[in-house]
Amino acid sequence: MAQASRFANKNVIVTGGASGIGRATVIRLTAEGGHVLAVDLDESGLNETVSLAQATADHGGRVSAICASITDETAVRQTVQDFVREHGQLHALINMAGVLRSSHTTDTDFQTFMQVVQINLGGTFLFCREALPYLVESKGNIVNAASTSAFFGHAYMAAYSASKGGVAALTQALSREYMNRGVRVNAVAPGGIATPMVAAQANSFPEGVDFSLYQHLTRPDRQLGEPQEVAAAIAMLASDDGAFINGAILRIDGGTHG
Ligand SMILES: NC(=O)c1ccc[n+]([C@@H]2O[C@H](COP(=O)([O-])OP(=O)(O)OC[C@H]3O[C@@H](n4cnc5c(N)ncnc54)[C@H](O)[C@@H]3O)[C@@H](O)[C@H]2O)c1
Repeated sequence: MAQASRFANKNVIVTGGASGIGRATVIRLTAEGGHVLAVDLDESGLNETVSLAQATADHGGRVSAICASITDETAVRQTVQDFVREHGQLHALINMAGVLRSSHTTDTDFQTFMQVVQINLGGTFLFCREALPYLVESKGNIVNAASTSAFFGHAYMAAYSASKGGVAALTQALSREYMNRGVRVNAVAPGGIATPMVAAQANSFPEGVDFSLYQHLTRPDRQLGEPQEVAAAIAMLASDDGAFINGAILRIDGGTHG
């Protein structure tokens, strides 16, 4: 199906672009004409994303990739600066890179807790900080990855939920701070989406988990959403269709938490 051209001549960075929602977003934005840079740790996943996005690119859309960690301060700065040097401007930043670990809270070591927070919240902060000066110039926007776990209590995911609550708060703080400088900052809060993260999660629950605590995450007719359904919402928020949306945390869960 032909896509709109809302990202024609728009330069966009997408983190987490090697997999899941990030990959679907790279493909969607490239199909809508965007010049998209995918950032991820996973080089082979990035190569696959680039092939997939090139196959459906339209309206002058182009895709490139860089292998880097979102927690590497120097790499994040360099990535943003190099992208702007090459393309002239940055119009949108989509922060989708993240990790999920589940464990009983009393079995969670401090290092694991902090690692999840460092990646999900710290990495998102670093990319926002480095991108904001350029987004002020372009009157651009940011879309972050929060989660329903930030608001509805996902058992055995204390670190993950806390990190996503942090992302939601970061999003709203930045949206207010930059409101008068023309930059919008929003987040998506997906529920259960069929991605490699969720597939890996299903196989790594700790012993003794009470699965009845997860009943609010699914509905009988349809267990999970698709990454493309989240990418469609991200594309709306990051395009001019979202021009009056700022500081929003958009829940995308098929109503399961409602
Ligand atoms: N899938 C869901 O149900 C769901 C629900 C709510 C929120 N989210 C959030 O959406 C985002 C995308 O999730 P997904 O399900 O597509 O996951 P995914 O595992 O399929 O993709 C995440 C990507 O992030 C990358 N990544 C992890 N750490 C990184 C780092 N330090 N530097 C660079 N890249 C790194 C991984 O390599 C991977 O390619 C995540 O932030 C996740 O927390 C997902």
